Amino acid sequence: CSFLQEKDRKTICEILCNGLARQEYRGYDSAGIGIDGDKPGEMFFFKEVGKVAGLRKKIAESNVDTSKTFLSQVSIAHTRWATHGPPSIVNCHPLKSDPKAEFTVVHNGIVTNAAALRLVLQKRGYKFESETDTEAVAILSKYIYDSQPDKRPSFTELVKTVLKELEGSFAFVFKSSHYPNEAVTARRGSPLLIGVKTEKKLKVDFVDVEFAGPDSDAKSGSTLAPPAASAGGLLVPPAGPSMLRTQSRAFMSEDGLPQPIEFFVASDASAIIEHTKRVLYLEDDDIAHIAEGELHIHRLRRNEETGGAPQAQHRTIETLEIELAEIMKGKFDHFMQKEIYEQPESVVNTMRGRVNFDQHVITLGGLRAYLNIIRRGRRIVFCACGTSYHSAIATRAIFEELTEIPVSVELASDFLDRKTPIFRDDVCVFVSQSGETADTILALRYCLERGALCVGVVNTVGSTISRETHCGVHINAGPEIGVASTKAYTSQYIALLMVALQLSEDRISLTERRNQIIEGLHALPGQIKRVLEGDKGLQELATGVLANQRSLLIMGRGYQYATCLEGALKIKEISYMHSEGILAGELKHGPLALIDENMPVIIVMTQDSLYPKVQSAYSQITARKAQPIVVCNEDDDGIPKGCKTIRVPRTVDCLQGIINIIPLQLLSYHLAVKNGFDVDFPRNLAKSVTTE
Ligand code: G6P
Repeated sequence: CSFLQEKDRKTICEILCNGLARQEYRGYDSAGIGIDGDKPGEMFFFKEVGKVAGLRKKIAESNVDTSKTFLSQVSIAHTRWATHGPPSIVNCHPLKSDPKAEFTVVHNGIVTNAAALRLVLQKRGYKFESETDTEAVAILSKYIYDSQPDKRPSFTELVKTVLKELEGSFAFVFKSSHYPNEAVTARRGSPLLIGVKTEKKLKVDFVDVEFAGPDSDAKSGSTLAPPAASAGGLLVPPAGPSMLRTQSRAFMSEDGLPQPIEFFVASDASAIIEHTKRVLYLEDDDIAHIAEGELHIHRLRRNEETGGAPQAQHRTIETLEIELAEIMKGKFDHFMQKEIYEQPESVVNTMRGRVNFDQHVITLGGLRAYLNIIRRGRRIVFCACGTSYHSAIATRAIFEELTEIPVSVELASDFLDRKTPIFRDDVCVFVSQSGETADTILALRYCLERGALCVGVVNTVGSTISRETHCGVHINAGPEIGVASTKAYTSQYIALLMVALQLSEDRISLTERRNQIIEGLHALPGQIKRVLEGDKGLQELATGVLANQRSLLIMGRGYQYATCLEGALKIKEISYMHSEGILAGELKHGPLALIDENMPVIIVMTQDSLYPKVQSAYSQITARKAQPIVVCNEDDDGIPKGCKTIRVPRTVDCLQGIINIIPLQLLSYHLAVKNGFDVDFPRNLAKSVTTE
């Protein structure tokens, strides 16, 4: 949205498409934009299935007047990852309420009662074009507008009425021909931020939140009866809610005069960082209204009704420290490759200022005030999805060893499905690269409601998990763009290990063990560099023995079980080859049946206390004619001659998994490249899964 800031249509389209392209890493299947047309109230839409490049082409080939200028305008854009209805132009956002686009909406998330809303609106004579849940929201907006001909609501009031009818999770931007140059944006469960760009300094760097009055909580005052029950006679016009106490401050420059200003609404800072670093994160149930160069934030429900972590009374404008260059590919062919190669530095960034290698002291500022509560906890529950889950598996044993607190590791979705018992003296640790994974957020809120201490281990500063947890550690790995997580894994691993080290700092009996680990951490960046130097050999494996295989088993045990799971996940995610991580201790209970001379196997056999047991697994599979590739230490001369090996530097047992995962990351990368697959954006997957 821009105000008193002249822009031509070409620039507007470029800003939108660039913003979409910067979010490509999140994964999507179609993209679209909606911009102001030539006449007042008119809108032009461009939509394309596939990449943003296709959308750009479509815009360039159209015959709209790109030189037309606007003094103030609101434009919207979206990349879609299909949930309701397949990827197609008609299902692509922005979605409109009617051919004239009286209301236009873009949406992330899922409206779970969309089918019921659709039914109700269809009965009222409204026509749907798409199969999306979002279109129901656009049409509902029009219905609410149409049903109040005598006293039109403000745009904010209207959206508030719409939101009251919705179930599920969302981040929305609304635009309307009835409210020219205004935008309303709201979130519940999906991330949303607003960037602010001005020439002059702002008078205030925060926005007060306007709380709704007691009569206007989310349930009371609903204009729709519950959809299922109301399919026949729904939709009584709202009773003109007296909802907002106006306290908010507008964005005025220091001299108090209106000034040219631009607002950028996005789900991710990378989309807007080239325009401004000044951003304000919205909380769940915030409704932000942008008009006349001002931003006002309203709450859908009162503070105490939202449950969970306390909500702030105002939203502060923060200055992001991320650089655009950090989210670019540099000299690498793919983001994933760049991120694998960044690991010698990213692990240092995770430890920077936190590990004193001379005195063997760990200091995690974000946990300091909570250390004793954690130590007194009855158990520690790790909760995460995907790669983040594997980092929790990888560090569980050292956590238990150092803290002597029982640790369980939960997949967030399963944790919720089971309605796992959680108590006030539990410590729940939520591990997430993005901090926006819907299942992990829901698990967090579940634990907050039950009074547990909630700790975040998150990469993305300002993300929902980092804001809603009581305390935590940022892993500081820098932006991760490749959908397949690599550097975040090694940094999560180190961050969790540092938490365990810090928790055990007063255990004299563990001093030697702790010192050994801290020394190991010191040597790690150099050792990772050495593994990366072996990249060529891994490329040869991918294009040689492993080329054209349909399946790959990766086995190991103890600390290396997580390496096997994570290695197999990387391979299936981006090279689409079936791959399974197998606990070598379970070999005899099933997987051994798969073994013959044709089954490719990688066995992780670095030297720790379980080495003899892994050797015995090795013997069992070679006795059945398998020809495993062995991941082993550089100096291990016990590996049978003629055996294919991936040699890695030796480190402390609990750190070896950080070194061992790197060749498997590289292997998966080369397998995907060899097969010509889209390494950074694997089919059907998203970087940040913000829906359940
Ligand atoms: C998606 C990503 C994975 C990631 C998982 C959890 O599946 O593709 O790379 O591990 O989500 O994401 P989080 O951001 O919570 O770590």
